[in-house]
Amino acid sequence: MTTTLPSVFQKYRIMLNSAMRAQLSTRGLAVYRMLEYSMGWADVEGQPVDAVSGKALRPTLCLLACEAAGGDPENALPAAVSLELIHHFSLIHDDIQDRDETRHHRRTLWAVWGEPKAIVAGNTLRVIADRSLWDLIERGVPYRSVVTAADLLTEAYLQMIEGQYLDLSFEGRPDITLDEYLTMISCKTGALIRCSMNLGAVIGSGAGEAVEAFRECGRSLGFVFQIRDDILGIWGDQKATGKPVGADIVRKKNSLPIVYSMSKAGGVDRAELQAIYRKASPDGRDVETVLDIMDTLGARAYAQGLASAHCTRALETLEAIDVPRESRAHIEEIARFLLVREH
Ligand code: IPE
Ligand code: IPE
Ligand code: MG
Ligand code: MG
Repeated sequence: MTTTLPSVFQKYRIMLNSAMRAQLSTRGLAVYRMLEYSMGWADVEGQPVDAVSGKALRPTLCLLACEAAGGDPENALPAAVSLELIHHFSLIHDDIQDRDETRHHRRTLWAVWGEPKAIVAGNTLRVIADRSLWDLIERGVPYRSVVTAADLLTEAYLQMIEGQYLDLSFEGRPDITLDEYLTMISCKTGALIRCSMNLGAVIGSGAGEAVEAFRECGRSLGFVFQIRDDILGIWGDQKATGKPVGADIVRKKNSLPIVYSMSKAGGVDRAELQAIYRKASPDGRDVETVLDIMDTLGARAYAQGLASAHCTRALETLEAIDVPRESRAHIEEIARFLLVREH
């Protein structure tokens, strides 16, 4: 099964990278060198490198939705930059919260510079992201659309932060329901992905029906994305994900395979799962036990099936509106990639 990035991820890459660099290159303080490291543009000493820095999923969806809705993707570029910078801000803080020392096969900001400075670096990036959005005005985007975009973006990343709070407060709990889990992921990762397509459509068209259709497509893609992320958080290949197998079990995360297994397991297995989730730190044998129980219950196939249903739904949402054939094909490519990605 091939999981290389579809070519559409390259489509806007050059314009996106130069617009992102322009946002970060104007100030001298060392915190900006940390941010350049985090974006994959510099090493720890500040020397230029070209490291793997992420897929740029959210800005790609934003620019693609703008084009698909009939607009010029250049107009949506400031929004795309904001989305990617907010995403990176969330990763910087998420790695502190999740105690992860590796991302993109490199040491995380807090692992290199310590938590206090990594917190400041994340906040700095968030503010730069906010300011980037106002460049929509220079692109000639109508004020009304700019204000709408700013409001949508703020609400989306407020939901993202609320989702992070829920994710952390669910850690170690053996009683999380499927509904609680779905609410949590629709906030922590769904909100920004949904917003990406929503903003693209607002800038590209503004027509109510198109905006609604792209937002709903983004909503479903958010579920595909996070459910697949949950699968990778348990069964992902370390070489691709940069994280050990079972990482989410060690952190006692309530990802979908565990929520499903807790609800489906029979008496003995359920008691075992609950006991492991009450431990201060599950060890390698505990991870094996959880993996065995998940295997028996078919937790992986269940999760993949749910992701697949959301993928179908994402594509259905666009059926009723007029979308150029090439844009539709690109959106389909992304949806199918999210379903099988390995990193
Ligand atoms: C990873 O997101 C973190 C989550 C929101 C679950 P991505 O997979 O989109 O991150 P990149 O591609 O490494 O930037
Ligand atoms: C990250 O979620 C969500 C945000 C950063 C908002 P995870 O913690 O599940 O993602 P990874 O596995 O670290 O990329
Ligand atoms: Mg994490
Ligand atoms: Mg997390």
